[in-house]
Amino acid sequence: MNKILELRQLTKHYGAVQALRGVDVVVYEGEVLAICGDNGAGKSTLIKVVSGAHPMTSGQLLLSGRAVRWASPHDALSNGVATIYQDLALAPRLTVWQNVFLGAELRRRVLPGLSVLDKRCMRAQTAHYLERLNQDIDDVDRPVSDFSGGQRQAVAIARALRWQARIVIMDEPTAALGVKETARVLALIQQLKSEGVTVLLISHNMEDVVHVADRVVILKAGRVAAQGPVLGLRPASLAQAIMTGQWPQLPATA
Ligand SMILES: Nc1ncnc2c1ncn2[C@@H]1O[C@H](COP(=O)(O)OP(=O)(O)O)[C@@H](O)[C@H]1O
Ligand SMILES: [Mg+2]
Repeated sequence: MNKILELRQLTKHYGAVQALRGVDVVVYEGEVLAICGDNGAGKSTLIKVVSGAHPMTSGQLLLSGRAVRWASPHDALSNGVATIYQDLALAPRLTVWQNVFLGAELRRRVLPGLSVLDKRCMRAQTAHYLERLNQDIDDVDRPVSDFSGGQRQAVAIARALRWQARIVIMDEPTAALGVKETARVLALIQQLKSEGVTVLLISHNMEDVVHVADRVVILKAGRVAAQGPVLGLRPASLAQAIMTGQWPQLPATA
């Protein structure tokens, strides 16, 4: 399996607070990797460093084997690392397609030195991304505020696809959602995976993790306490592992 992302001895200090204390994580291409841990374990800090929102204090970040140092979230995004923030960073009054292309609109030249927004192309591409995600958002001209939480999540992911994201990072994507909408977001994650997109999922919900993740990394006080494959784990034993920092022993099969 190809390593798409590697964190080597990553540290992040906020003044005297050592949020990450030497984290080594390997992320394989096309997997769904869950990052779990108690409040304050360093999960959000980890993804802020990977997404370019915060500089690391020390250590290395390797993208497909190449050491990178992001100058900004936009820098990470244009290198295929997209982050879906908890608030989704959508503009509710703008249409679906305007949100997908926000800040990076497509233009077409009408005369030498004169270009206009290529709305037709942006509408069509938006519809195409949503189709890829199996989303039934029929009208990309409606404002985002018309749609449900799970559908908004899909719009945010469509925006990641617009940037040809190879890694999509999601911080607690189902935290504010009901059962049906949660199922929609889990299906979105599976759809991304089926397209070969790598997903980093931060989640407190062990049912969700067991449902969609291939592997789990457990952080505790800024360090990797345990990690392993999800296959065969029950949500309760994963919750236990987060508390103890020990990978659960699977019962021996007869
Ligand atoms: N901007 C910040 N300034 C100072 N301390 C911070 C900041 N962000 C997080 N921390 C501290 O870093 C530690 C890890 O926090 P965080 O990464 O948010 O953990 P988690 O997402 O796992 O709950 C905590 O002790 C938290 O209080
Ligand atoms: Mg957090």
